[in-house]
Amino acid sequence: MITTKDTKNTANDASIDTNVYTFLATVQELEKDGQLTRWVENHDILLYIWEGQIKAISNICRHFGGPVGYRKHKDGKFTCLWHNWQFSCDDGACETNPGTPLRQYTDLVVQNGCIYINLLA
Ligand code: FES
Repeated sequence: MITTKDTKNTANDASIDTNVYTFLATVQELEKDGQLTRWVENHDILLYIWEGQIKAISNICRHFGGPVGYRKHKDGKFTCLWHNWQFSCDDGACETNPGTPLRQYTDLVVQNGCIYINLLA
């Protein structure tokens, strides 16, 4: 669990292992609307704040690849733009078609106001 207040690995930027972690966004960018999407390498990532935690899931819908994070989440769910499949903000579970969850990225680090992601975790 990581929040915007966390400062894991606070020593300095040099402590981030860039072989493991990739810069994703600043906390300030995320706090502006509470969610954003960003391509990092070949990953389309939906980064958001849910119940005080920073979370990241795939932005690519398991139905036909529509943008899950195009709309603001509501009532704990993201609704895909194309055909309205819904995914839980808790963990990316699909509520429309159970068993087809979005990939969840669980290894995030906040350091000096920047959010980094481990794309391999
Ligand atoms: S592509 Fe997302 S609901 Fe169809």
